[in-house]
Amino acid sequence: MSAAETPAGTAAGLMDRIYRHQRHIYDASRKFYLLGRDQLIDGLQLPAGGSVLEIGCGTGRNLVRIARRYPDCACYGLDVSSEMLATARASVAKAGHEDRIRLAQGDATGFDPQALFGRAGFDRIVIAYALSMIPPWQGVVAEALRRLEPGGSLHIVDFGDQAGLPAAFKAVLLRWLAQFHVTPRVSLPQVVAALAEAAGAECRLGAPYRGYAIHAVATRPRDAA
Ligand SMILES: C[S@@+](CC[C@H](N)C(=O)[O-])C[C@H]1O[C@@H](n2cnc3c(N)ncnc32)[C@H](O)[C@@H]1O
Repeated sequence: MSAAETPAGTAAGLMDRIYRHQRHIYDASRKFYLLGRDQLIDGLQLPAGGSVLEIGCGTGRNLVRIARRYPDCACYGLDVSSEMLATARASVAKAGHEDRIRLAQGDATGFDPQALFGRAGFDRIVIAYALSMIPPWQGVVAEALRRLEPGGSLHIVDFGDQAGLPAAFKAVLLRWLAQFHVTPRVSLPQVVAALAEAAGAECRLGAPYRGYAIHAVATRPRDAA
């Protein structure tokens, strides 16, 4: 669906409206406040020939870095915004990775990876600063856990509870983020830990930058059914 056709009142319509102009300055501006994404990429430790899906891939910034960092992997990106995907497609082409990074439009709250990408599971799934923009985010985490191959892992980074930072900073940040329909999910550590446990996955949590960000890794056992 082209951006001009996305209906108002849908996630696609809202995200296209937010990012129609922002996408042109997105990578240059967000590097100052979407912290922890490169550390997440370093921690993926993708096996040779492995697969990685980014849910809410935006401009493709992370996928291009993942493809560079792990030269054998197959990358897949899902985003609801055709505006963001237009920038992602250009970035992927510019990096010369069209053969290794496949992009598709879809809503993270209900998508079929088999239909979109021809595969049902992934060795790694990344969700970077997208859950804070998806109201039913818990379901997205649960579905991502279900989509992991045995031994696979889900890697999440997003805004944290800002617990170690001055209250004034937190207040300004929250006002700024609200303009972009971003709501830090303060219960994310507890929810991811509970969903991981229910899925039989091992969960590691961190709160880097004095709680500015939350980082979660949930790993499915190799012998999972
Ligand atoms: C803050 S951006 C992060 C982009 C990228 N992950 C990064 O780290 O640069 C959030 C992205 O999530 C996407 N998004 C929001 N709601 C979504 C949904 N329901 N399904 C899929 N993508 C969604 C937006 O279109 C946007 O590209």
